[in-house]
Amino acid sequence: MKKNILVTGGAGFIGSNFVNYWAENHPQDNIIVLDALTYAGNLDNLAYLQDKPNFSFIHGDICHRTLVDNILEKENITTIAHFAAESHVDRSILNPNAFIQTNVIGTFTLLESFRHHWQVQNQPPEYRFLHVSTDEVYGSLEMEAPAFTETTPYAPNSPYSASKAGSDHLARAYYHTYNLPTIITNCSNNYGAYHFPEKLIPLMCINILLGKPLPIYGDGQNIRDWLYVKDHCTALDAVLHKGKTGETYNVGGNNEVKNLDLVKLICQIMDEIEPNLPIKPSSQLITFVKDRAGHDRRYAINSSKLQKELNWQPSATLETGLRETLQWYVNNRQWWQPLLSENYQNYYQQVYEE
Ligand code: NAD
Ligand code: TYD
Repeated sequence: MKKNILVTGGAGFIGSNFVNYWAENHPQDNIIVLDALTYAGNLDNLAYLQDKPNFSFIHGDICHRTLVDNILEKENITTIAHFAAESHVDRSILNPNAFIQTNVIGTFTLLESFRHHWQVQNQPPEYRFLHVSTDEVYGSLEMEAPAFTETTPYAPNSPYSASKAGSDHLARAYYHTYNLPTIITNCSNNYGAYHFPEKLIPLMCINILLGKPLPIYGDGQNIRDWLYVKDHCTALDAVLHKGKTGETYNVGGNNEVKNLDLVKLICQIMDEIEPNLPIKPSSQLITFVKDRAGHDRRYAINSSKLQKELNWQPSATLETGLRETLQWYVNNRQWWQPLLSENYQNYYQQVYEE
């Protein structure tokens, strides 16, 4: 059945990958992106879709109830894929306000508006509210502990993860209280094209291209479980088409690696694929810096529920996904160079130099 799908945060990293994926794989559906174009939102991420008749972009805030009500009604929305969020832990340490506003109040506004819309339409069973969340709500794992499952208790440690946990609880409560057809996904660290330069992988890649230091927090032994964004998109497709309402699905790429090892691998691949680096070998640029406050030691995701129940598998290994991603940054300087704006330099100075 044809969907009219509202993608919040569709101009951000994962949202835009999802929109590009969806347009290619489900050309019969209408896609409407709602995005406030914060520092992390970028219309260039959607450049391939601008002229498509079944794509439209609305510049606006998910906290604006009247705006959201009007969109749901006018566009006859059947599905919300909710990506819009403040997403960077370091920024949540500097300024948590925006995180509570967008992640908690914004999600609440969308849920309320969607509840009203769904009830006015006599509760169609095929409607969906997909809430995209993070593994960070589960807190930090000991080295030998088993990976997070869908029943791991919530224990968020940063303002970012606490705000995402709050929004997950709301999405869950709207299913239990109102039968609203919500589904929650909790995924691990994503990487791929269109990733804003502040996050670990693009930051390291861009700094290598510029010959700048590669800042590793603390001892570099923190572990993250990396998921190629294209695999995340196929997982969300499976969840939207086959997932059960009221359920949570963990999404991960089975790629646990220590930050320092990951940065060394990035250096090795960059040395291979870019002959004209300012500093070679680029691993000379590795620099240990002061640790992030409250830095979670380890995340790892068990996605066997998604694999067994919805028959999903990630297709990239860390090596293949990383090569594709790094090559994309090498080829797309015109995408990332303008993002290193004065605002970004101020942010960078606050986190790394003060
Ligand atoms: P991002 O920061 O790249 O993009 C967020 C987008 O939301 C931007 O386009 C921004 O303009 C928009 N936005 C922010 N506030 C808004 C508001 N009030 N109204 C409308 N739009 C607004 O984020 P991302 O990395 O693409 O993450 C997408 C979702 O996935 C988030 O919910 C995040 O918590 C979750 N997630 C991300 C990762 C990751 O590794 N990036 C991992 C797990 C979960
Ligand atoms: P990040 O990409 O910010 O994702 P998250 O904090 O959501 O996991 O960081 C990934 C890991 O890399 C995390 O352990 C923090 C670390 N890190 C650094 O060591 N240096 C950096 O400059 C950045 C941005 C992150």
